[in-house]
Amino acid sequence: MYSEEVRNFGFVNQAIPAGLNIVDELNALKKKKNAVILAHYYVADDVQDVADFVGDSLALSQRAAETNADIILFAGVHFMAETAKILSPNKKVLLPDLTAGCSLADSCPAPDFEAFLKNYPNHTVISYVNTTAAVKALSHIICTSSNAKQIVQSIPVEKPIVFGPDSNLGNWISRETGREMVIWDGACHVHNEFSLERILALKNQNPDAKLISHPECQKPILEVSDFVGSTAMLIKYSYTDNSEKYIVATEPGVLHEMRKHSPNKTFIPAPGEDANCACSECQFMKRHTLEKVYNCLKFELPEIDLDENLSRKALKPIQRMLDISAKLGL
Ligand code: 13P
Ligand code: SF4
Repeated sequence: MYSEEVRNFGFVNQAIPAGLNIVDELNALKKKKNAVILAHYYVADDVQDVADFVGDSLALSQRAAETNADIILFAGVHFMAETAKILSPNKKVLLPDLTAGCSLADSCPAPDFEAFLKNYPNHTVISYVNTTAAVKALSHIICTSSNAKQIVQSIPVEKPIVFGPDSNLGNWISRETGREMVIWDGACHVHNEFSLERILALKNQNPDAKLISHPECQKPILEVSDFVGSTAMLIKYSYTDNSEKYIVATEPGVLHEMRKHSPNKTFIPAPGEDANCACSECQFMKRHTLEKVYNCLKFELPEIDLDENLSRKALKPIQRMLDISAKLGL
């Protein structure tokens, strides 16, 4: 049995033997171990390319719930791998870099959220999937940006709602549905940092480009957008819409999938406040390199480990989300 330190970090940065073809080796390992690689659209292009399935948060949780694999290697952030473990407690769930957290999930610590909820005893608590298992366990129902509108609308109008933790998404849903909600004041460091001024300048230079944005962006950016939607919705819009050029206000990893669908269209990543930094990249998603993915599957470490009692509590609100999404065909 490995020590906790080794289990968490021991093999991640192990040197890869010279000349090894990582992609071929990964394919062989997947077969031998009956493993599946799930990746979010925000991870690096070469990691997306070795995945069996690439999706947004909703699609990934649906896949994690239905796979027959013995091992799920999750190329995404910690809460996503944790959700996969909650949905498949008997499977081994691996995360190539355990430090791949999420600033949005961090903006809502469970003890603070629990104290906050004491002020709203009769409310239905809807939490975004970008939360820890402990916050999910305090919630009645989970949502992602692909189904948040429908999940809010599924709650009877007379029932007051607490929505957390993303305030930009919560306020956007509130404007879209006309439902007033108590909203936790959290944000994602990527989507919250886009610069309206620099986006407008880019629009001026590219008058033929449409601005498409994720609802985790701030209100002024959403107001000037031609389309607002989850990661999967933005991708779909980019190939079903008839424009040739788009300014994309979400994590630029999605451009890989957009370009696959529309190789002749132009996609411009929206700029953040600081011209000299890659602030619009999610530093957590980008922690997974191909080398780490290989070492992770080879050594089956680091593994997601979750308290069974907490896992059972967190499962209920996730299952409610999946049931509603299936009923609505989402
Ligand atoms: P979606 O995958 O639901 O679009 O969420 C975006 C995100 O920030 C994931 O961390
Ligand atoms: Fe979290 Fe933002 Fe990264 Fe998504 S993009 S994983 S919300 S930090």
